[in-house]
Amino acid sequence: MYVCLCNGVTEREIRQTAHSGCRSMSELTMRTGCGAGCGSCVCMATEILEEIHGSGEAVANAA
Ligand code: FES
Repeated sequence: MYVCLCNGVTEREIRQTAHSGCRSMSELTMRTGCGAGCGSCVCMATEILEEIHGSGEAVANAA
């Protein structure tokens, strides 16, 4: 499933990036481009990061 339509980033890609050490939305944006466009995927992407790393750790910073 695509989370970020602007940059074609899938949920699977976000999970893989999170598992390889990505903990914040800004880092995810740098690594995948997710969130670099319209920003509507930021909320869902943050939820995925939080789900993997535990709540309160992932920092949302909308572009
Ligand atoms: S859907 Fe991700 S930046 Fe637009």
